[in-house]
Amino acid sequence: MNKGPQWNAQSYDKFGRFVSDHGKIILKWLDAQPDERILDAGCGDGALTCQIAKQGAHVEGIEQAPSMAKAAQAHGLQVRTMDLCDLEDVSQFDAIFSNAVLHWIEDWPQLLHGFHRALKPNGRLVVECGGFGNIAAIRTAIIAVAGQYNMPIEAGPETYLTDQDAQTLLQKAGFKLIKSELCPRQTHLPNGMAGWLRVFRDPFFKQFEQGSVRDKIIDQVLTMLEGQLKTPNEQWFADYVRLRFIAQKI
Ligand code: BEZ
Repeated sequence: MNKGPQWNAQSYDKFGRFVSDHGKIILKWLDAQPDERILDAGCGDGALTCQIAKQGAHVEGIEQAPSMAKAAQAHGLQVRTMDLCDLEDVSQFDAIFSNAVLHWIEDWPQLLHGFHRALKPNGRLVVECGGFGNIAAIRTAIIAVAGQYNMPIEAGPETYLTDQDAQTLLQKAGFKLIKSELCPRQTHLPNGMAGWLRVFRDPFFKQFEQGSVRDKIIDQVLTMLEGQLKTPNEQWFADYVRLRFIAQKI
């Protein structure tokens, strides 16, 4: 089961919109064709799902967070609210697409088993997610602050694979790796690091009383990070590393 943060569509729209704005490369890798049946695994509020639909494909989404699923359904998209690891479809899709989600999944063998079963013969799996080394500086700063207060880190499971690890898991699940890359991408945070921390590290900061106590803890994390991730003109970046791959069902 995916025990990552529970996204809220409104705060995601404000602080997480850059995530789908960065979807161009992986949409190109997907190269959706008219009339293909495509599953958007972890479709969020449907921003990229809509773009896939515009290319003429029959796309449907799966989203675990009810608030995000509702936002996607409001665009007229067909979306199931469920855990990706519970997918039981058989030979339904020409392609499964996923952007910025699979690093929240702990049990990749179970996930890939379900994806493999859900694809038609020779179907493709096209993924971008956080990869090995993702947000290392941010995680280190949170660990340091958590240690000062004797608090658990509480971020949910995060799986940051190398491209080699991914290849091994994909082969075990019956896929052939067609193409992959692991690349750092300093990612501009249009609403700053504090907003990112509040949305994407919500389980950690929620442990501290809301208001001045929580604000102080966030300030401590920001202070640790500013030398590395804030520019002289006050722009914040996150130290993302992206893992991208295309794999084919064999
Ligand atoms: C990511 O897309 O890599 C990511 C986003 C939020 C938290 C952790 C990772």
